[in-house]
Amino acid sequence: MRERVLTGIDGLDKMLNGGIPKFNQVVIAGGPGTGKTLLCLEYLYKNALAGETCILFSLEEESKMILENMKEAYGQFSEIDRLIAEHKLIIKGTDQASSLIQKDKKGNIFTFTTTIADIESVIIEYSATRVAIDSVSVMKLFVKDPFEYRSVSTSLVTMLRKQNVTSLLSMEIETPEKEKLIFEPEFFIYDGIIVMYLSGAVEENRVPTVEIIKMRGTPHSFSTVPYEITANGINLLLIPRRE
Ligand SMILES: Nc1ncnc2c1ncn2[C@@H]1O[C@H](COP(=O)(O)OP(=O)(O)OP(=O)(O)O)[C@@H](O)[C@H]1O
Ligand SMILES: [Mg+2]
Repeated sequence: MRERVLTGIDGLDKMLNGGIPKFNQVVIAGGPGTGKTLLCLEYLYKNALAGETCILFSLEEESKMILENMKEAYGQFSEIDRLIAEHKLIIKGTDQASSLIQKDKKGNIFTFTTTIADIESVIIEYSATRVAIDSVSVMKLFVKDPFEYRSVSTSLVTMLRKQNVTSLLSMEIETPEKEKLIFEPEFFIYDGIIVMYLSGAVEENRVPTVEIIKMRGTPHSFSTVPYEITANGINLLLIPRRE
């Protein structure tokens, strides 16, 4: 069996039959506000606690806001500041040159190749083993041509594989509802796809659920499982199996 990397979310690790196969590059797809960023942060926090060097590259938010939101949501994650001070948990937001989609002096936006190279050099600088990129959808805003977008996505995944990291890459999908999920062509590039939904009619209580669409290297559950975001992390409401 391939070595596993725990997500740190018990229910999800159970669904994955023991965790993510090491070195997989896994997409966390979901609609707005489903908890993609928080899931990535929990993965990094739990792995940092276990002694791994973990980096979040945010292409959307500034480091300060990410940290504030993380502490607000995860009130019981008491080791955040220590892990950051020890460079076990590293947050590179849009304010940090390394993960910025920067403009050069003439105002031209750098190509994404530059960003991928920047991400790679930070991974090497810290000898990171766990990475999250939040979100890869930002690339779509800059790379309009679908073929070029696939090519850039492939370059990113190839770089992450070369650096021997196990990564989560968040991706926005247009609909948060399971019934309307469209399989994006770029889904095929990644080793795993986990989708976070917000199901149910607007007028009723919407229930967030999670489903593993694919995960190379392991059998996994195909169930769609409700979850809640608590001060102690994401909690999957798994129904215990009858013996
Ligand atoms: N303190 C909190 N306690 C409980 N739930 C929270 C708390 N803070 C945020 N949440 C939940 O987490 C969700 C936001 O999580 P997160 O930012 O990870 O979502 P996201 O999928 O990354 O969103 P976006 O698409 O905007 O990037 C909120 O919509 C809310 O439901
Ligand atoms: Mg987010």
